Amino acid sequence: MATARKTSRPKTVSTSKPVKVALLGFGTVGSSVARVLTASKFRGLELTHIFNRNIARKRASDAAKHIPSSVAWTENFDDILNSRADIVVELMGGLIPAEGWLRKLLAAGKSVVTANKQLIAYRGPSLMRLAAQHNVQLVHGAAVAGGVPVIPGILQGLGGDQITRISGIVNGTCNYILSRMESGADYATVLADAQALGYAEADPSADVDGFDARAKLCILSRIALHAELDPDAVATQTISTIEAIDFAYAKELGCTIRQVSRAQLDKTVVHARVAPMLVPLTSPIAWSHGTQNMVVTSGRFGGDVVFSGHGAGGEPTAVAVVSDILAVAQRSIAVQLPVRRRAVTGEFLAPHYLRFIVDDKPGIVSAISGALTKVGANIDSILQRPGYPKHRLPFVVTTEPCLTSTIEKAVASIAKMDCMLERPLCLQILERDDRQPD
Ligand SMILES: NC(=O)c1ccc[n+]([C@@H]2O[C@H](COP(=O)([O-])OP(=O)(O)OC[C@H]3O[C@@H](n4cnc5c(N)ncnc54)[C@H](OP(=O)(O)O)[C@@H]3O)[C@@H](O)[C@H]2O)c1
Repeated sequence: MATARKTSRPKTVSTSKPVKVALLGFGTVGSSVARVLTASKFRGLELTHIFNRNIARKRASDAAKHIPSSVAWTENFDDILNSRADIVVELMGGLIPAEGWLRKLLAAGKSVVTANKQLIAYRGPSLMRLAAQHNVQLVHGAAVAGGVPVIPGILQGLGGDQITRISGIVNGTCNYILSRMESGADYATVLADAQALGYAEADPSADVDGFDARAKLCILSRIALHAELDPDAVATQTISTIEAIDFAYAKELGCTIRQVSRAQLDKTVVHARVAPMLVPLTSPIAWSHGTQNMVVTSGRFGGDVVFSGHGAGGEPTAVAVVSDILAVAQRSIAVQLPVRRRAVTGEFLAPHYLRFIVDDKPGIVSAISGALTKVGANIDSILQRPGYPKHRLPFVVTTEPCLTSTIEKAVASIAKMDCMLERPLCLQILERDDRQPD
């Protein structure tokens, strides 16, 4: 006779009793999640608690008007910890106090849904282990690309493939800025507009310098490439040095410019980078405009798959969060595949775009060409648009594919030339079929 064995499957949320949901954070996404939950009246789901600091202010807000009177509002975290909530949804953001509170909730046997990319990028593996230890679930489908179901799409829809490469646009703020610059606006004006519209923070560094996208790229690498990367080791490059002239040259090369996040598995190393890059107009990555997000995965068996849509905003993100809540309630989370810590390098083999601004004198082109030849990089084309003064002349050199470290060596020596008025701008040119360094 077979003996029944105790398994450690995640706790099933009872189908007979409604699943109780508590919210931590009633801001942009939190209030939208409450709205979607109350408007959709999902059978078997019940919003029971809303937590936020200074709760009276939140309770008096317009966003609170549709919340049923049965919901308990609190500014005391222990009320959530000690509540009978089955699922707690964390939408406060940041590492502190979110991490400590999530640990307590998981240890208390509550499943957690979060959209917190920094927390998941930096602490994901240890939080996942804690969830497994306590037989509960930790789900974060909204942490990358907001309302675009990239994470559940990769986990559930592409779990059967071996994904070797991911690339795309995961920061809507940078995409808004660069796609408006493509139409002729300058960086400072567009950044100010983005701040006025609430797309960019007063300090835009996390977005424009690539740190937000880097956290998301690390989450995607974990899920798609099964590779655990140290976010601080992923190379980033700011978009703030891109000028209108670069879009004009990019157009001549059949390209536009986007902040691209890309990671590619090469045996035991992951090549990863977040940087503005020249993107061919024929690539799907060039098609996203405004705050749209776009992620392309390349699988060994299934080929390329493109995900695109609204990467941010209260309601699109709330849809992803509520879908996670439903998935936890229905226990339909995909099997988590093993993840390995991988070394990360910013090295890619790619053609490059170099833009110089010089005080024009005879011999500059041959000096630049000499510096490139010295490191073994070959020039592919030289472009110079008319109409600029000789004492501040922009021109562009593109190279044949060469290693990032090779081109950086050449740029460092070219930057020291007397005629250079600014540090040269060096961008990778994305190819349809990117090669990896041998
Ligand atoms: N907004 C988006 O489009 C989007 C998209 C994808 C993912 N996300 C992620 O979703 C999360 C929430 O984003 P959001 O845009 O909704 O942020 P938000 O508007 O700033 O909302 C955060 C809420 O949490 C509260 N809060 C923060 N720290 C707290 C603390 N220590 N104690 C008590 N309450 C606290 C805030 O209260 P106060 O009002 O007092 O500050 C605010 O109500 C973040 O992790 C974000 O990265 C957002």
